[in-house]
Amino acid sequence: MPVPLPALAFGGDYNPEQWSREIHEEDRALMREAGVDLVTLGVFSWAWLQPEPDRWEFGWLDDQMDSLHSAGIRVDLATATASPPPWLTHRHPEVLPVTHDGRTLWPGGRQAFCPSSPLYRDYALTLCTALAERYSEHPALALWHVSNELGCHNARCYCDVSAAAFRTWLRRRYDDDVAVLNDAWGTAFWSQRYDDFEQVLPPRVAPTHANPTQQLDFLRFSSDQLLDNFVAERDVLHRVSPGVPVTTNFMVMRQTAEMDYLRWGRELDVVSNDHYLIAAEAGGHRELAFSADLTRGTAGGRPWLLMEHSTSAVNWQPRNRAKTPGEMIRNSLSHVARGADAVLFFQWRASRAGAEKFHSGLLPHAGTDTRQWREVVELSRVLDAVEEVAGSTARNEAAILFDYEAWWGCELDSHPTVDVRYRDRAEDLHRALSALGVGVDVVHPSADLSSYRLVLVPTLYLVSDATAAALTAAAEAGATVVVTYFSGIVDEHDHVRLGGYPGAFRDLLGVRTTEFLPLLAGQQVRVEGLEGGPVTADVWTEDLELAGAEAVATHVDGPAAGLPAITRRPVGAGAAWYVATRLDAAGTDRLVERLVTEVRLERLPGASPLVEVTRRVGEGASWLFVVNHDSEPAEVAVHGVELVSGQEVAGDLVVAAGGVAVVREAAAGGQVA
Ligand code: GAL
Repeated sequence: MPVPLPALAFGGDYNPEQWSREIHEEDRALMREAGVDLVTLGVFSWAWLQPEPDRWEFGWLDDQMDSLHSAGIRVDLATATASPPPWLTHRHPEVLPVTHDGRTLWPGGRQAFCPSSPLYRDYALTLCTALAERYSEHPALALWHVSNELGCHNARCYCDVSAAAFRTWLRRRYDDDVAVLNDAWGTAFWSQRYDDFEQVLPPRVAPTHANPTQQLDFLRFSSDQLLDNFVAERDVLHRVSPGVPVTTNFMVMRQTAEMDYLRWGRELDVVSNDHYLIAAEAGGHRELAFSADLTRGTAGGRPWLLMEHSTSAVNWQPRNRAKTPGEMIRNSLSHVARGADAVLFFQWRASRAGAEKFHSGLLPHAGTDTRQWREVVELSRVLDAVEEVAGSTARNEAAILFDYEAWWGCELDSHPTVDVRYRDRAEDLHRALSALGVGVDVVHPSADLSSYRLVLVPTLYLVSDATAAALTAAAEAGATVVVTYFSGIVDEHDHVRLGGYPGAFRDLLGVRTTEFLPLLAGQQVRVEGLEGGPVTADVWTEDLELAGAEAVATHVDGPAAGLPAITRRPVGAGAAWYVATRLDAAGTDRLVERLVTEVRLERLPGASPLVEVTRRVGEGASWLFVVNHDSEPAEVAVHGVELVSGQEVAGDLVVAAGGVAVVREAAAGGQVA
């Protein structure tokens, strides 16, 4: 019978096909030494499993499954459909993806398939079925892993097959009525009116900007096609291998916008995520923290699995910074603190050959007599020590609304400025809240908002009427709602909401903007009114009138000089704030401090810009996580048992510079009697 997942799983991608039998034996011995209890097997093994269309080679995988089982290691078995073998693309070149300017993406790398190709889908489902039939009862099997990072390199395909699939998708969306599509796409503009669905194409490269709603729908379609590939494999696995959970690894990180993971998450038995730091960015742990909270949002608040991250450098950025001593353990614990029940890596053993040979692994090229290996062994010990947190989750009173469709819409071309980036405000508000020790959920606008006392709405460019109504209801019921600029501008079809900006939120906020006044590159303005003196802002200002709200802060200079920059309006039992400019970090800090004080949100002890403090809550127990990114020790007033060291703490926990701590709190939720 298949086995459950380990409580707090530790391990990574295992690619034994790259190595000889002797190495496999060494691998298992070293995995045991490092405490590895879960490996992801077979991600890129299609060519090994099905070397020819009618020839199957399962012997090597049987051996691997059996020997891993004997070594006490469980398997997250991939369906191996991530990268079609050369025989398939050679035989059927029509499965290859095509870019918007008509270039074919050839085999030789990975993921060379069109997400809409029925041929690819047939071959993939045959492979998936064969694996499910063979291994569904294997005692090493704990989890099915569909494909790999769906859409990583082939999220958008513009080939003729995709074009036909896009038309089918559009017919469904627009009631098979081209007049409805014409309305939705605003085709009265630039002579774009269609009189038959057959004339509609994906937004291939055009003389100038393609229709924005066509672009938006193509992004929706592309995400849906990839999700359909997941669902097709998942359904095979559920049928042939019932009872074994199915996942696919997301890429929730700043670099990846293509897949609507907040919708995808509902289709997975367990969410898993891959996260890689942006090497060039100082303070990358903040983007990590935001992404981890967003991943928990995609999982509907349930625990999730960190499927991949790196022990040290990656190989695919321009300059690949090695992690500093302790950084890998801190990164790992930040994910666990925010709901991960597994810490897995790409990959077990650093490769000798291939495009990823300079990517770090659990076992580096230099072997076990290395600081990297010793840290891997130490991480495994730490995870064992804190294993009891598995299954618990977060309970927060602040939420950030996040929507991939708003992201797509917000960053389309032909906008007032190229400098509005969707994740920018969300990450900055998250950073400021974290620095104060306020936990925050990142959720879809359709989520139940009733338990939140502070609801932040950054750059929600595209909103439905339902979202606008839900936010008004939340404010009336007592929440403080904070909307930032370039929110509520358009409806689902990317049509401007008329009567003054921000159309969807004008009444709620009590403001009316008649014109956007974006700033030029490098231009800064001053804003005064927040406690502590003037702050600077850039990128965005607007010609804003008060219509029921009061001004909290005002522009001192720039095109909006004298006009409100931040406003507040009491609404029912709550309040609605509007932030009409891009405050610098100090400005965001002061605004957030004021909000947290006004709303009286709990601040976890010891938090600072460099000390992450978060809480996981379980049945009658809670754990405080401290991740100290500072070069000074951190002091945290907490009572309980510190699990990494096994020591009791009585209000005076000291976490070493660069260290981590996990305290089982003496009273659940931190309320010491
Ligand atoms: C992921 C992928 C892995 C490996 C890793 C390198 O995108 O799933 O197979 O390529 O990145 O960082």
